[in-house]
Amino acid sequence: MANFKTQVAIIGGGPAGLLLSHILHLNKIDSIIIERQSKSHVLGRIRAGVLEAGTVQLLRDVGLGSRMDKEGMSHDGTSITWEGKPSLFIDVKKFTGKTFMAYGQTSITEDLFQQREIDNGHIFCEASEVEINNIENKHPEVTFVHDGKPQKITCDYVAGCDGFHGVSRHVIPESQQRSFQRNYPFGWLGIMAEVPPYKDVLYGYHSEGFALASQRNPMLSRFYIQVDINDKIEDWSDDRFWEALMRRLPDEVTKNIKIGPSIEKSIAPLRSFVSEPMQYHNLFLAGDSAHVVPPTGAKGLNLAVSDIYYLSRGIIESYKNKNNKYLENYSKTALSRVWSAINLSWRLTKMLHTFPGEDPFDEQLRQSDYDLLLKSEALQQALAVQYIGLPFDV
Ligand code: APR
Ligand code: PHB
Repeated sequence: MANFKTQVAIIGGGPAGLLLSHILHLNKIDSIIIERQSKSHVLGRIRAGVLEAGTVQLLRDVGLGSRMDKEGMSHDGTSITWEGKPSLFIDVKKFTGKTFMAYGQTSITEDLFQQREIDNGHIFCEASEVEINNIENKHPEVTFVHDGKPQKITCDYVAGCDGFHGVSRHVIPESQQRSFQRNYPFGWLGIMAEVPPYKDVLYGYHSEGFALASQRNPMLSRFYIQVDINDKIEDWSDDRFWEALMRRLPDEVTKNIKIGPSIEKSIAPLRSFVSEPMQYHNLFLAGDSAHVVPPTGAKGLNLAVSDIYYLSRGIIESYKNKNNKYLENYSKTALSRVWSAINLSWRLTKMLHTFPGEDPFDEQLRQSDYDLLLKSEALQQALAVQYIGLPFDV
């Protein structure tokens, strides 16, 4: 068995794990990433693409802003359209003084992976049988198999950044863990097309279901529609997708949407999930390993980034100044921000989707939610504050 020593063993090389490793490196703290998938698999994943102001600033602060600032598309606000009612532009900049950025998680992962390689970061890809041992001890161990050989890493801290299907969360005894979950009775069918995007990130409500226009760069568009939870991707030809999208959005929008062949098409279920606490002895969970949000509002990546902001601050303070205060409060601090994003994405999901089997009372409440939003600048401001994201620094 090969034995390695590091300060922080990071399970999972998605955006959370890669960003943590990068920030620790900037602070001269050594880490090793253990990733289950291949590099090409990690870099090929397509996820959401709206970055809160705090995420944009953090990426710039850690030297990862240059491609984002070149290719990303900055926005002052976001649009909502509604069948039979006027459209609304939530002027985030007017209400908060901040802008957000449309820039894909796929590109962020590429930027992070490339930077870790430039800095000779240690990443084991295609690791199997990953296990965390002795987490209650001062020096926990992570074991796994790589290239057919058993490997062991001894460390001070383990960061569980291995997503919803990872192993880290399950190290916490069930008796000391509490989880909260809501599964939504529909999915999102997403499509990527190499055509210039619609000018805004636009959320559309229609009695047939939700629709969303988004973007990746000036030549790459991303669209979604709400579909039945049991639908298969084979049920959805490109033509059927575009026709449904066009029916669900108003003419003033659809006349400005360019259509083209899909280069990617997939269906994702929608789920809200939180597992508490996010710490157990020397194990710290971050990102999707501890919480999942439905994509409405695009909070998933932003939460992974804010978790890593709090976790890296805690680890750095503990090494540099022997100050454990931030690490001790990590779970509490991170969870407070997590619940505000869980709340927003649940509310947006509820307002913008049709729910199979709901009664007319629910539908009237949904219509009333939007009518109130149309009439009240205060409610628009409240939405703008949550959409742009709460400040990290607390
Ligand atoms: N051992 C090692 N790695 C693992 C294991 C395991 N047992 N299980 C999963 N992984 C890896 C996955 O292959 C993936 O690369 O952990 C990584 C987790 O990455 P993500 O799922 O992208 O999660 P995270 O880094 O927390 O980023 C959160 O991703 O799911 C989106 O919408 C979500 O935007 C959010 C972001
Ligand atoms: C996306 O661009 O993929 C996206 C944008 C906004 C959302 C969700 C997803 O709310």
